[in-house]
Amino acid sequence: MARKVIVAGNWKMNKTASEGVALVEALKPLVADVCECCAEVVVCPTFTTLSAVVEACKGSNVKVGAQNVHWAESGAFTGEISAAMLKEAGVEYVIIGHSERRQYFGETDATVNSRLKAAVAAGLKPIVCIGETLEEREGNKTEAVLGKQLEDGLKDLDSATVGAMVLAYEPVWAIGTGKTATPEMAQETHAFIRSKVAELFGKEAAENVRIQYGGSMKPENAEELVRQADIDGGLIGGAALKADSFAALVKNAIKGAGC
Ligand code: PGA
Repeated sequence: MARKVIVAGNWKMNKTASEGVALVEALKPLVADVCECCAEVVVCPTFTTLSAVVEACKGSNVKVGAQNVHWAESGAFTGEISAAMLKEAGVEYVIIGHSERRQYFGETDATVNSRLKAAVAAGLKPIVCIGETLEEREGNKTEAVLGKQLEDGLKDLDSATVGAMVLAYEPVWAIGTGKTATPEMAQETHAFIRSKVAELFGKEAAENVRIQYGGSMKPENAEELVRQADIDGGLIGGAALKADSFAALVKNAIKGAGC
């Protein structure tokens, strides 16, 4: 069975609750004809905007994700949020290990792994981000870096869990820079990621896991990227902050998937 496209908007630290609701209200009619049988549309607001956006998305085909989750059930972790809190807020997906978390907030593969286990245990659907820096790519270390992020980040998970999850390949040098990996370059890396998942978790998990591309993805390049055999959608920053560009991107991604 073909993998279902998943396009997720990562709003990062943008949009107050009222701005987020306005975005979603504008987005809903634009993507109302997107069949859930071929694509999932997800928006990932900040914590304070989540509840209002969950409410606004009710009865539509737009799903909601968070941008982070802590590994503990509760306790003295100022500024963090638990999986149960997200579940109760009506959240379905959660982004884990975004490169900005790794770069600015000390996130490591070990913390990614802990957060991932907590998310899975609570029934949240994780979107786990991996990616290399420009220096690592230029030093021919891309596969070694991604391989280690997968080995350590997904440690101890079972094959079924990995098959059901979403990975987001986001080359750090392409995020917010306007520099997109070419479709061929992205495909080559996605194929490597899938082969690494096969090595670690078996063929079925590798065939089922959805791998999004992220990094300056926009309406203009979405179709070509998603046309690649191992690219199953996108994790979108800048182009997700406006309803029309995000909707256009979703439609073009679906075209690329031939759905
Ligand atoms: P961008 O961000 O689309 O603005 O490059 C993508 C991301 O960081 O998820």
